[in-house]
Amino acid sequence: MGVLYVSPGFQPAGKEIDFGKTKENKVLVVGGGGREHAIVDALSRSIWVSKIYCAPGNAGIAAQAECVPISDHDVEGLLAFAEQEHIDLTVVGPEASLSVGIVDRFRAAGRVIFGHTQAATRIESSKEFAKQIMEKYGIPTAAYRSFTDYEDARAYVASRPFPAVLKYDGLAAGKGVVIAQDLAEAEAALKDMLLDNRFGAGKVVVEDYLEGPEFSFMCFVDGERIYPMPLAQDHKRAFDRDLGPNTGGMGAYTGLPFITPEDRAFAQEYILQKTASAMVAEGCPLSGVLYGGLMKTPDGIKVIEFNARFGDPETEVVLPLLESDAFDIFQAVAEGREAEQPEWSDDVTMGVVMASKGYPGSYEKGFAIEGLDQVGPKVYHMGTKCSDGRIVTAGGRVLMVVGRGHEIHQVRDCVYEEMGKISCPNLFFRSDIAHWAL
Ligand code: AMP
Ligand code: GLY
Repeated sequence: MGVLYVSPGFQPAGKEIDFGKTKENKVLVVGGGGREHAIVDALSRSIWVSKIYCAPGNAGIAAQAECVPISDHDVEGLLAFAEQEHIDLTVVGPEASLSVGIVDRFRAAGRVIFGHTQAATRIESSKEFAKQIMEKYGIPTAAYRSFTDYEDARAYVASRPFPAVLKYDGLAAGKGVVIAQDLAEAEAALKDMLLDNRFGAGKVVVEDYLEGPEFSFMCFVDGERIYPMPLAQDHKRAFDRDLGPNTGGMGAYTGLPFITPEDRAFAQEYILQKTASAMVAEGCPLSGVLYGGLMKTPDGIKVIEFNARFGDPETEVVLPLLESDAFDIFQAVAEGREAEQPEWSDDVTMGVVMASKGYPGSYEKGFAIEGLDQVGPKVYHMGTKCSDGRIVTAGGRVLMVVGRGHEIHQVRDCVYEEMGKISCPNLFFRSDIAHWAL
């Protein structure tokens, strides 16, 4: 871009002084779910951004950005668009785009892009790679072994206590983890993954079962530098009281009562920072978001999984708390420059996902959603589209209603009350989001 960067610290509040950094930046956000809606929403508050595009976006994003019909893994199509429109910064949401190498391709073409290289994305896309890094650098996680051979895997599982955790080594759309209660269940899952190659030929990581509350700790990361975000907790099961199948996440909140400041400091130093440094030492530095899926076990905080991107639905409750200008941090990380630590509000947020009946199994689409304009809190669209001038359901997770305030009870009551204004015959939601905090 060739412009002089001015730290926001030099910007007198309320004054439009520009020492050279242009305010005419065009940003392209890649993806089309609730996470990308929250990213677009944060960027739309930036004083440095004049135009936001989103590919492919959705019906809600369309109110804040110009949606362009390019798929999030059409790297060449996205690059051609970025070049044609002179996009100043591209921000990548989904892991699928990162793992096909969108960042490597954009950087090779000289474009500024926020997200990890393909090599760094292995921290999410390969369970075995992530486990090897954690073992080598002493980052706390469950003990594990990895296998390609069914008989070897079976013998190892049979020699360990149950339940056993079996993870397919690769992106399996959240369906690659099986918690087997006994040998018969483990055999069935191993057969599926190693003999029948349900997700393609690959490896299985077998790890010890850990217990305790799970939480998500995300940070912006650029090589050795990390910029931690507020903690959030997701609700992975489909139904109340944590029953039913695993989903992508049915709701989330911030302000976790069970994590002490010491826990957070430990996780920041010995998990996030250590992982960032480890990836530099391995020659594949991170540059984007590192998401620690962590568990507070009786033996301390341990890593359950890493993701190489913003969590969904965590982003929808975390990014609204960002008080600094979002463009500053995204651009600095994308350009490999040091940024100021972003500032975050002390408010708490909570959000409830409205999903299509049948999700995470099969579901129908195309149901009209009414009443969205009546809702006070923020509504992030996860899976919607416009059809004949109406907003209709277009995915498993459809909407997320997010409230904020000082006190979680009040925020929760407000969100559930306001959700009553949304009508759609094919949506369901959990009624106990944030129950850990209440
Ligand atoms: P993952 O895709 O690795 O996040 O795993 C999905 C879910 O399986 C996690 O959110 C946990 O609830 C559960 N899980 C994964 N690994 C373990 C483990 N070692 N012990 C207990 N539960 C686990
Ligand atoms: N909420 C879990 C994830 O984004 O993977």
